Amino acid sequence: NKRPTPVIDIPHIVAHRGASIEAPENTIAAFRVAGARGAKWVECDVTLSSDDKCVLIHDDTLARTTNGTGPIHQSDLASLRNLDAGGWFSDIYIGERIPTLSDTLETLYFMEMGANLEIKPSGCDPVRLCQEVIAELKASRTLPSILISSFDDVAVAEMRQHMPELPCGWLLETLPKDWKAEYDRLGASALHIDHKALTPVSAAEIVDAGVPLVCYTINDVERAKELFSWGATSVITDDPAKLLMAIPRRPFAANR
Ligand code: G3P
Ligand code: MG
Repeated sequence: NKRPTPVIDIPHIVAHRGASIEAPENTIAAFRVAGARGAKWVECDVTLSSDDKCVLIHDDTLARTTNGTGPIHQSDLASLRNLDAGGWFSDIYIGERIPTLSDTLETLYFMEMGANLEIKPSGCDPVRLCQEVIAELKASRTLPSILISSFDDVAVAEMRQHMPELPCGWLLETLPKDWKAEYDRLGASALHIDHKALTPVSAAEIVDAGVPLVCYTINDVERAKELFSWGATSVITDDPAKLLMAIPRRPFAANR
């Protein structure tokens, strides 16, 4: 991909699946709570219903976060929208629904928030998922700031090819030896990695290469401070209220 890689402007704290410590993950309620706690951005997971509609849910099955059962990709949008996606978390969230991508974009837009939209094929075709996401993003008249990310290299490549103006993070559980070559090949704008995979040395390698370092999932204030001291750009947390209270601004990175 020869198109220039877009720069990202991601806040230092991003709410993982919304404020998922306080509200049911990947719901409009969790996004609203994140905003109320001062988070500027949320991370959320998008996948496809059986009729190819973009919906927000983390797992590939319905059991954990809804009152439904079975694989997400075998239910159509109408059935998914009938499910309760809040009661599993707390009675006060009974009635919360699985959001569509367009509901989410509109909500975040009017809250003046942004999104790290994680493309999560988890069983569906990554190219088809990307096509549907792209169609929705292009059609949206209420588009918030977006940073795409995915563990799926096919999805990253697809998004880079068809929406090159949109920044895209490459998600990793561990750092491969030749990560920089693959990062450049993909044309990614950030590296999103499980913080447990990082050492001060590997973090410095990423930061010194000029690559924005986004870490997930950190709910501990001291660990977040340590990652910032290693040069992390952002941390993704279930508990934005706690982290923002303790770390209201991105700290100066000691190793930069
Ligand atoms: O995007 C960071 C993080 O959400 C990736 O893992 O499983 O929580 O989607 P997961
Ligand atoms: Mg995610």
